[in-house]
Amino acid sequence: MAIILGIESSCDESAAALIGSDRSILAHRLAGQEDAHRPYGGVVPEIAARAHVQVLTPLIEAALNDAGLTLDDVDAVAATAGPGLIGGVMVGLVTAKALAMAAGKPLIAVNHLEGHALSPRLADSSLEFPYLLLLVSGGHCQILRVDGVGQYRRLATTIDDAAGEAFDKTAKILGLGYPGGPRVEALAKTGDARAVPLPRPLLGSAEPHFSFAGLKSAVLRAAQSGNYRPEDIAASFQAAVVDCLIDRLEKAIAQGGPASHLVVAGGVAANGAIRSALEALAARHDMGFVAPPLWLCTDNAAMIGWAGAERFALGLTDPLDIAARPRWPLDPAAEAARGAGVKA
Ligand code: KG4
Ligand code: ZN
Repeated sequence: MAIILGIESSCDESAAALIGSDRSILAHRLAGQEDAHRPYGGVVPEIAARAHVQVLTPLIEAALNDAGLTLDDVDAVAATAGPGLIGGVMVGLVTAKALAMAAGKPLIAVNHLEGHALSPRLADSSLEFPYLLLLVSGGHCQILRVDGVGQYRRLATTIDDAAGEAFDKTAKILGLGYPGGPRVEALAKTGDARAVPLPRPLLGSAEPHFSFAGLKSAVLRAAQSGNYRPEDIAASFQAAVVDCLIDRLEKAIAQGGPASHLVVAGGVAANGAIRSALEALAARHDMGFVAPPLWLCTDNAAMIGWAGAERFALGLTDPLDIAARPRWPLDPAAEAARGAGVKA
């Protein structure tokens, strides 16, 4: 069995994990920074980078301790090398390089999105390639066909906001604070999803792309009108997101070629309403449905360690001079979505 040290620092979670190639999770540690960012209502890159500097090394030591291992027992060091907030990514990658060099171990530069994309295979040993992946996080909303490690075909992306971003902005509009997604979901449970008429952007359009900016503006108008209860806005917003995700996935399933499983990953996959709608969609199409456990959906180092293990098994290691990348698409060949704004 190979043992991989995984390191994550691309946004506001510092994390370290030790993962076995047999899918054993020998240790995983995580330090969130919510308190540091809360006064600003969102992640402040400079604060995030400084916090990673402070906590990453102690976290790695704690993870090694938890597993009863030393760096000598580790076969490779894997760290997120992008995409993400570049200051934080550099902290994690430089830490990984230093450890790899000091211990004479190979370095594996992991794409954070590949970490999310392969995380369902850590949770479920029976999940084989190819599968259809809905990747929904704070920064990304994509449908990908996963044909193998490093083999991704992007079928759809968002032309403006990511789904998680829409949840976070809705939370801000409703005064729920940060982080928004879980709070909107909790409030939505007590509301009426039919109470507020909200748009379903791009519903029925020919390509399976997403758009959430218009929905966000409609939420703002509904809130400002004073005509609706916050819980009804939250429930109606969440229902609109579900409708968009399902409609766009229907299109992608029709266009993407056969895949035996529908898989969801990324922080928004923690949402219960979205998970059950996806499960029903998969059942309608005779596809299996796989979602990682909640702790593995949001950012963590176990998924980075696991992506490292998958790459290590294929002999895919990286030179120590590899650079951190703020942008790093999983499918570099994918064209920009028509009508897309500045976001990749
Ligand atoms: O994958 P992740 O931890 O970080 C990124 O790489 O973006 O995803 C974080 C996103 C945030 O936008 C957060 O609001 C959203 O996932 N999220 C949720 C839920 N839990 C987290 N969105 C909806 N419902 C949830 N329960
Ligand atoms: Zn993420």
